[in-house]
Amino acid sequence: MCGIVGAVSQRNIVPILIEGLKRLEYRGYDSCGVAVHQAGGLRRARSTSRVAELDAQVAQEEVQGGTGIAHTRWATHGAPAVHNAHPHFSHGTGADAFKAKPGRIALVHNGIIENHDELRDELKARGYLFTSQTDTEVIAHLVDSLYDGDLFDAVKRATLRLKGAYAIAVFCRDEPHRVVGAREGSPLVLGVGVQSGENFLASDAMALAGVTDQIIYLEEGDVVDLQLGKYWIEARDASNGNAERFVRVERPVRTVHAHTGAAELGPYRHYMQKEIFEQPRAISDTLDGVVSITPELFGDGAYKVFKDVEQVLILACGTSYYSGSTAKYWLESIAGIPTNVEIASEYRYRDSVPNPKTLVVTISQSGETADTLAALKHARSLGMPHTLTICNVATSAMVRECELAYITRAGVEIGVASTKAFTTQLAGLFLLTLALAQVRGRLNEAQEAEHLKAMRHLPVALQSVLALEPQVIGWAEAFARKENALFLGRGLHYPIALEGALKLKEISYIHAEAYPAGELKHGPLALVTSEMPVVTVAPNDTLLEKLKSNIQEVRARGGQLYVFADADTRIESSEGVHVIRMPEHYGALSPILHVVPLQLLAYHTACARGTDVDKPRNLAKSVTVE
Ligand code: G6P
Repeated sequence: MCGIVGAVSQRNIVPILIEGLKRLEYRGYDSCGVAVHQAGGLRRARSTSRVAELDAQVAQEEVQGGTGIAHTRWATHGAPAVHNAHPHFSHGTGADAFKAKPGRIALVHNGIIENHDELRDELKARGYLFTSQTDTEVIAHLVDSLYDGDLFDAVKRATLRLKGAYAIAVFCRDEPHRVVGAREGSPLVLGVGVQSGENFLASDAMALAGVTDQIIYLEEGDVVDLQLGKYWIEARDASNGNAERFVRVERPVRTVHAHTGAAELGPYRHYMQKEIFEQPRAISDTLDGVVSITPELFGDGAYKVFKDVEQVLILACGTSYYSGSTAKYWLESIAGIPTNVEIASEYRYRDSVPNPKTLVVTISQSGETADTLAALKHARSLGMPHTLTICNVATSAMVRECELAYITRAGVEIGVASTKAFTTQLAGLFLLTLALAQVRGRLNEAQEAEHLKAMRHLPVALQSVLALEPQVIGWAEAFARKENALFLGRGLHYPIALEGALKLKEISYIHAEAYPAGELKHGPLALVTSEMPVVTVAPNDTLLEKLKSNIQEVRARGGQLYVFADADTRIESSEGVHVIRMPEHYGALSPILHVVPLQLLAYHTACARGTDVDKPRNLAKSVTVE
């Protein structure tokens, strides 16, 4: 989703700004732009194409300067179009004045300003000219209207008027060596430069990898002043009830080894394919160092917390929600702990009944998803202090916010449709299940050894599943001609069916729905015709016989069945029943294997339809707005 990079330097900063945008590119965006202080004024270039195109544009137009800001935009207010792309400039007073007097404020923004209509009316009445449909342009004009020779002061005063979520980076024509940033609800970091007094801003430390590893994570309400060789942070002073006064604050500088994000595609056609094939390595890395089950895998003090809690509440969005939904089955059956799984955006706004003895577990690949972060804070505000995250980014807000954490080691995930993050989350959640089971006296040494053995064998088992790719490609050709698909699963594999349907719709744009197989006759059976492929996840577990009956129900209506069956299920291919046999049966960990052919099916179907697999339309990798 939206990304910010900003800099104050003595060298031409444009290549660094562009490189920063490239590092954030994988998050998904639909336009991009850069602005610099050049020849005493504001210069900018914007594009609805890729950052590479913006790069060519700045080179051609010779956009260069030592002070600048850059942005990748994921449209919320106003279509993806050049005039809506950031940076936005403030525009004089009125159309004629604008021609005579180019704007003096340049600004980029992540988040959503909720009172933008009200502010726009007010600023229009004062003569400001709006050239975009964005909520962001309002902030540029607002800062301009409050500017009286000191940008830091103007931004501080502007933040007092903003409602909603924002991270902003701003510079002014009249102050050539200064960039001001502010955040509330959206992440922003300060990068302390290592050469010639330069300083940086970014929405993620990863954008600055290779430039500086000295990072300050700005906190809610912080406003930061960046100049050559110095920076200064202020926050609203909540003491004495005076929220309009700002006071200086110190924030620790951390050394952050942000990964470069510059993952190579290697022999693969897309990052998604590469990431599917990386899963054996990702799982192996995630389990690296786990020699035995102990609560301390999740951080110091975990034993005390695990001993104290009597239920689990899982909060997540998207694919992470489905890994949580799978874990509910494990947590209740293996650890015997009552577990609820909630979609973060629902939980944060509904009335719920808190139990202080709850372990609140957030699951997030990015660690920056706005709804999941807000749901976490909401849970805490309801009096549930024990928090744990399963997260793929050690430096993320989620990890910093939670008491306990398990960092999955999937590596950077570029494809918008999550794959290796999902299976590594499942690995982390299985470890959590075992640790809670142990503390609750439900895991003896023999069981622990058996589970650990099965987990260590996962990379090998995954390799055999990946070898099914040619068979899946055969199916994908048939799927590519369909407009609808139904996915069925039972028990532990119902969330896997949901995840399979999500993958297919995200990247192939085929309408796909998933149902617990037992619900078939309560509605979806009405949809079954020869045009509706029905994908069934059929592991050899206690529900197999029931699933076989559901398969017959589909066949009887002429539906085409595509069954991923375990080796020993005795479901055979026949007229209208297509079977791919999974290499081995895997008991409780079976979801980790069964999701893989569904990822491959979605991937190859999307390829056959010629969609933009890694950057599907309208979607973003890291959803930092609600
Ligand atoms: C977006 C991504 C999904 C992801 C979801 C939650 O929708 O496209 O792949 O599952 O956000 O993201 P998180 O980073 O919190 O796991």
